[in-house]
Amino acid sequence: MKKRVAILISGRGSNMSALIAAARAPDYPAEIVGIFSNNPDAAGLAVAAVDGIATAALSHKAYPDKPSFEAAMNAALDAWQPDIICLAGFMRLLSADFCNRWAGKLINIHPSLLPLHKGLHTHEQALAAGVAEHGCTVHFVTPGMDEGPLIAQARVPVLPGDTSDSLAARVLVEEHKLYPAALAMLARGEVRFAS
Ligand code: GRF
Repeated sequence: MKKRVAILISGRGSNMSALIAAARAPDYPAEIVGIFSNNPDAAGLAVAAVDGIATAALSHKAYPDKPSFEAAMNAALDAWQPDIICLAGFMRLLSADFCNRWAGKLINIHPSLLPLHKGLHTHEQALAAGVAEHGCTVHFVTPGMDEGPLIAQARVPVLPGDTSDSLAARVLVEEHKLYPAALAMLARGEVRFAS
C-alpha cells in the first residue's frame, strides 16, 4: 500500500514538483494526495492542478489567530487522510499542538546543513560564516523551529565568488533529489521518529 502524502507550500513549489515527479514512478512507496497552501496565490497550486492533484488554499490572514487557522488546515488535511505531511517551502511557523498531532508524520526540507543556519536566509548565513560546505536537510518537524531529528542531508561545496543566488541554485538541485529520497525512506519504514 502506498503511503498517502499531503504537501504544504507557500510559494513556487519546486520541491513539491520534485515529489510529484518522483511519485509517478510505479515502485515509489508514496502517492501525493493533496497540496495545501496558506497562500492562495502560490504558484505551486496551479502547477499541482495541471498535474491533476487536489489542492486547497486557506489564507492564514482570514483567521483571527493561529489555532483557528490550524483547525481549518487540519480539517482540509483530514479530508485527504494523509499518512505523511511534507512541508515544502511552507512559510508559517506551526504550533506545538499541530506538530504534536502529526508527530512522526510531519517532515520538512531546510536549505542548510542543520543544525547550522536555522531560520531564514540560510545561504547568506552560510556565506557570512565562511563555511566550505553547505547543503540541505530533511528532518522531522517538532515544536522547536528547524530542530527535529534529521532524516537525510546532501552537501555542496561553497565556491569562490559564490553569491547567495548561485549557492541557492546549487543547493536546490540537491533538494530536488534529497526530498524524494528521504520521503521514500520514511514511506518504506526505513526511518522512524523517536521522541
Ligand atoms: C526551498 O529552498 C526549501 O528548502 C525552503 O524553501 C524553499 C522552497 O522552494 N524550505 P520551493 O517552493 O520548493 O521551490
